[in-house]
Amino acid sequence: MKKYIYELPDLLDTDYIFEKSMKVITTEWLETPAPYALGKYTDNPDYYINVKNDKYLESIRLKYPKLKDYIKILKSENGTWPAHIDKWRKTAINIPLKNYDDCQTHFYKEYTELEEVDSTFGSATGTWTSNKYVSYVETKDVIFSHKLVVPTLLNTAEPHSITNNSTQVRIIASWTYDDNYMTAIEELRHGH
Ligand SMILES: [Fe+2]
Repeated sequence: MKKYIYELPDLLDTDYIFEKSMKVITTEWLETPAPYALGKYTDNPDYYINVKNDKYLESIRLKYPKLKDYIKILKSENGTWPAHIDKWRKTAINIPLKNYDDCQTHFYKEYTELEEVDSTFGSATGTWTSNKYVSYVETKDVIFSHKLVVPTLLNTAEPHSITNNSTQVRIIASWTYDDNYMTAIEELRHGH
């Protein structure tokens, strides 16, 4: 559904980003429960894929200069991530790398922002506090669910949660686009 996701199957070479990611990711990272892995690895610049040092990735950023100069890597083990909206960005291109077959992103229509939420978060359970990256939200019905199988622009300003129903750890890369979702679609469709 265009309001939430826009697939970009030909935007980039997923295998290339897979190879780059495999050089960054560690066993310890994959074994760390999702909420802690975010702070320790995903959001830690030491574990970013650096776009500026990479000719191929930089050539894509030259075409679409609103892409950030780094790409983050995310892991999600069996379980559910609480519904949230991304606070530090409005949209991103998510790139499926490994074990994404039994995973879905769910979008919700109505929501109320919460200061904190008690819930599971991947393999962890706890009280999670909204922060500079995400605001947790209270939601009702899922309006749209999407399985990430090709590079896809996601409207991360809309409330969403993630489920992994398999026992395998999903790995994706996420490349932030520095504008809102609808503008990003137009620019990514037509070149910039
Ligand atoms: Fe998110």
